[in-house]
Amino acid sequence: MSTVLRSPRALQLTLALLKPDVVAHPLILEAIHQQILNNKFLIVRMKELLWKREDCQRFYQDFAGRFFYQRLVEFMASGPIRAYILAHKDAIQLWRTLMGPTRVFRARYTAPDSIRGSFGLTDTRNTTHGSDSALSASREIAAFFPEFSEARWYEEEEPRLRSSAEGVRPCTTDAGFLGPA
Ligand code: TYD
Ligand code: MG
Repeated sequence: MSTVLRSPRALQLTLALLKPDVVAHPLILEAIHQQILNNKFLIVRMKELLWKREDCQRFYQDFAGRFFYQRLVEFMASGPIRAYILAHKDAIQLWRTLMGPTRVFRARYTAPDSIRGSFGLTDTRNTTHGSDSALSASREIAAFFPEFSEARWYEEEEPRLRSSAEGVRPCTTDAGFLGPA
């Protein structure tokens, strides 16, 4: 991870995944994409991909041995997923709040308007992933976008995007969408 000094106002990056249950349903996919835009995330990179079982196993290795691990790996490799690098002032927490609780039953009762509360099917088929710390965001971004340099983005892109986001000059939704990788 970069150790360059960053402004305390710097935009934060997170990795967001839309899981196979979402990508298989165009209307839900579009609704979640729209929520990303409505919440003024900047889409720094975006791509759709099919994940190999070995990639899923590596990504979720901390859960190896848990009762749901095998099911999770099979599910994540079962169809296309969409990966985003999202930027926002408080991207990690904001995206996790939008997703809602991991377990769909809890999400439906405690955060019915969250993404998982609205669209989650089961604890495994729960629509989305979001990094849970700056450290895991860096690791997960590198896993999905190996060509992306976080250090270079902070140096070359972040100050300009932050000025736009802070309203120094107008920033429309389209201006914030930087297109797929
Ligand atoms: P976790 O990191 O605890 O949740 P989150 O996605 O909210 O960060 O778990 C990772 C994934 O593991 C979760 O999104 C879905 C799956 N999972 C299950 O299938 N069953 C479970 O009981 C739990 C806790 C997680
Ligand atoms: Mg997690």
